Amino acid sequence: MSVLRKKKFPSKPVDSGLKRELKTLDLILLGIGAIVGTGIFTITGIAAEKYAGPALTVSFLIAAVAVGLSGLFYAEFASRIPAIGGPYAYMYSVFGELMAWLTGWFMILEFTLAVSSVASGWAGYVSGFLDGLGIHLPMAISGAFHPEKGTYVDLMALLVVIAVTFWVSQEAKKMLRLNNAMVYLKFAIIILFVVVGLFHVNPSNWQPFMPYGFFGVNGKGVVAGAALVFFAYLGFESVSMAVEEVKNPQKDIPRGVIGSIVITTILYVVVTLVLTGVVPFHMLGVKDPVAFAMRSIGQGFVGSIISVAAILTLLTVTISMMYSLSRLIYAVAKDGLLPKSLSKVDETHHTPRNATYLAGVIAMIFAGIVPLNLLAEFVNIVSLMYLIFMALGIIKLRRDSGLPEEGQFKTPLVPLLPILSILISAYLMLQLQEITWIVFGISIAVGLLIYFFYGFRHSALNHEE
Ligand code: ALA
Repeated sequence: MSVLRKKKFPSKPVDSGLKRELKTLDLILLGIGAIVGTGIFTITGIAAEKYAGPALTVSFLIAAVAVGLSGLFYAEFASRIPAIGGPYAYMYSVFGELMAWLTGWFMILEFTLAVSSVASGWAGYVSGFLDGLGIHLPMAISGAFHPEKGTYVDLMALLVVIAVTFWVSQEAKKMLRLNNAMVYLKFAIIILFVVVGLFHVNPSNWQPFMPYGFFGVNGKGVVAGAALVFFAYLGFESVSMAVEEVKNPQKDIPRGVIGSIVITTILYVVVTLVLTGVVPFHMLGVKDPVAFAMRSIGQGFVGSIISVAAILTLLTVTISMMYSLSRLIYAVAKDGLLPKSLSKVDETHHTPRNATYLAGVIAMIFAGIVPLNLLAEFVNIVSLMYLIFMALGIIKLRRDSGLPEEGQFKTPLVPLLPILSILISAYLMLQLQEITWIVFGISIAVGLLIYFFYGFRHSALNHEE
């Protein structure tokens, strides 16, 4: 028995009991549904005010380069190893079980805390909206656990996670139909914002362009901004997680991953240019910067439409993330690294129901009691870590198995692009706060304990050996 033992995956998709009904467009919508959320609707404000100034667009572009490079590796892996679990499965096949478990563990943490962060951002919008209607929630149930402030649990965030868990435990297609409708709504409000905003852009707001510099000092600057807004791109991984429900994974998954990254990058560039052109950057540090920008140019009604639509569409991010999370837990459990009951597929709905419920309960607890800012930074650090694994993985894959076959996706310039990706990801990680690094260290230790006390002994590979 060795922690380096590898799992062999068929190079052609196999049948798993899950329904195969998703196509490229469904995947792009799934990707965008998971990607465009709190990152652009909320985090842009703080990032412009405190980190990047009007050069926020540049921060988004830097983050896009980091994510885009990883997107290429995803595409190649997904077309060569069309197995459920995304990077978790890819690492199992190239580096062996320990790296696979760590990757799976980081992804579980990423998705769980991303569901929690977006739910808690969503709850902020809802309570703001209710306040506007004169309905005020009791203090004790209106925020994360913080007794000095009088808040104990964020009830709204907790309830939305329960609702999302229920939807995701129903048939994938039903859930995705709702998701797709919301994605179109999200496009609609972004276009509304851009069209209305364009008429009010004042180029003098773009000066000074980089008030805190490019590399910056004291954790500020355009690059530090990129480390924060990196969050806005997370969710593109959801696409590779749906592999067992995709009609033609070898073609559809690469298209879904790359398509959703390209489309969101274009949206983000346009939105941030308009946002910083409409409002001076130092005024953007509010909870709802996109709606705020509209109010500040006398378009209060448009601002309200954007707020209501944001409340609806942030749901799609939680739905897509929860969907991927349940599939990931299902995949890891199927391999024996987590208890087997989590890999049971429900006969009526063809969804991994136990995995979905477990994911829901964990995300609910974090959404209810942990503050948003702590969650978001942590999501970024674990994600950057396994993107580094992915870059190393593609180099190893080429070394072990050579070039992709005809019809499979081929990453250009290997090993140059993977090395560049590792350097950029590591640099972005270094921009994050010390507390994030401490919690990250603890999470690695917990992950290793789970593996050595459970996964290593229960791995499905034990039977093969
Ligand atoms: N990318 C997702 C968001 O911005 C996590 O909400």
